[in-house]
Order: sequence, then structure tokens, then C-alpha cells
Amino acid sequence: VLEDPAAVASLAADTIEDVVRRRAAAGTPAVLGLATGSTPLATYEELIRRARAGHGPSYEGVQTYNLDEYVGLPDGHEQSYLATIRREFTDAIGIPPERVHGPDPTEETLPTAGERYEEAIVAAGGIEVQILGIGSDGHLAFNEPGSSLASLTRIKTLTATTRKDNARFFGSPEAVPHHVLTQGLGTITRAGHLLLLATGEGKAEAVAAAVEGPVSASCPASVLQLHGHVSVLLDEAAASRLV
Ligand code: F6R
Repeated sequence: VLEDPAAVASLAADTIEDVVRRRAAAGTPAVLGLATGSTPLATYEELIRRARAGHGPSYEGVQTYNLDEYVGLPDGHEQSYLATIRREFTDAIGIPPERVHGPDPTEETLPTAGERYEEAIVAAGGIEVQILGIGSDGHLAFNEPGSSLASLTRIKTLTATTRKDNARFFGSPEAVPHHVLTQGLGTITRAGHLLLLATGEGKAEAVAAAVEGPVSASCPASVLQLHGHVSVLLDEAAASRLV
């Protein structure tokens, strides 16, 4: 539990930089798992700030894998998660687009998209550190309550609540795609180190359920309890419902 969102971003940035430095020194550039959404933005901004100030590690050879992607958006749509992560992080830190990956939403090859994404992550050597946000209902990536704890990358239909939550990015709820491709909870727990970030009162209940509640598909983020290396970085508001 940290004092405020800035302290969460700073410790998360330290963790990412550590991995990038350590892997560069070993000659095998890091594979980072990235989340979109508002929570990790401060971390990305901190990493970019340090890189611009000349304190950052070299991102030479680093690869990134997104958690999820909308299905049905026109190519290059600014709200696609691939476009979003490039705009918010990877372009600024100098990771070229060919090393920035996400599930492939191309309609013609959709049936194999999940399997291909799993294979690509394995072929890259697996994700070393995975940044995660949490939904107020306990979702991780687009794994809504009820998702199998062993699930792999697959197509999901968004709930009305999530489409309403994400309407702010699209102008209206009707414009939000109905379907997504998302890493499963089983995919996420294959990463070496899970770094869950949560800030603000709105996340307090989900955080308490994930960390202190039973391991259950009704709180997808509770799957973190089954993983051997998890860091949960919270500000005081997000920690306020912990016992
Ligand atoms: C993002 C993602 C989502 C968000 C979650 C929290 O790639 O998969 O699960 O992490 O919805 O969103 P924010 O951070 O906007 O509160």
C-alpha cells in the first residue's frame, strides 16, 4: 500500500525498468505484458519521463504483448488497443511497432486468433512481467465474472456494463464493439511476475475480493492468489477495504 497514485506509478516503473535492465544485461531483451485503460497511464508516463531525462534503460529489442483487443473496428482505429498502447507508451519510449503485439482481430482469421496469440507469446519466450489493472467487478483483461480460471486467449462478448463503461472512448455505448479478443486468466497466470495496479476508492471492493476473498470465477482477479510471484500496488483509497 503506497501513499498515492504517483507512488504506485513510481514503484511500478522501477519494477519494469529493473526487468528491462536485467534482461538486457543477460543479452535476452525483456518481454513485457502491457495493459491499456486509465490505471497504468501514470506508470507509462513515468517510464517515458525517465527515458527522456536520460535515466531509463535501453529498450532495444524489448517486445510487448497487449492483454486484449476489440473485434470489428476499422483498421487503424484510434481506439484499438494496439493503436492506444502505441500512442500512450511504446512510440514514445522507442519500441518500434513491429515489436508491439496484440491479439489479431482480422475478421477472416478470427477463429484461430486466440491460438495464434498463445503460440506467439510462447515463441517469444513468455511474458516476464505483466502489468494488470482491475475492473470494479473484479475483471482482469476482458475476463468478466464467470470466466474460467484456466481460460486462454479467446473471443468474448462484452457485458452491457463494460460497454457502458467504455462508451466514454467511443462517444456512445452503441459505438462500442460487442466482441473482443482477450488473454484468458490461464494465459495471464503464465507470466513470470504479475504486477496489479489499482488506485482510487472505486477499486477498493474489487481489490479486497481479489486479495482476501475466495479464489472464484465470480472474482476473476482472485486467480492471482494461485500465482507464485504477484505484486499488488495500491494507493490508500484502493486499499481501504482490505482487512
Ligand atoms: C485493459 C484491461 C482492463 C482494465 C480494467 C481497468 O487492457 O484489460 O481489464 O485493466 O478495465 O481499467 P481502468 O484502468 O481504466 O480502470
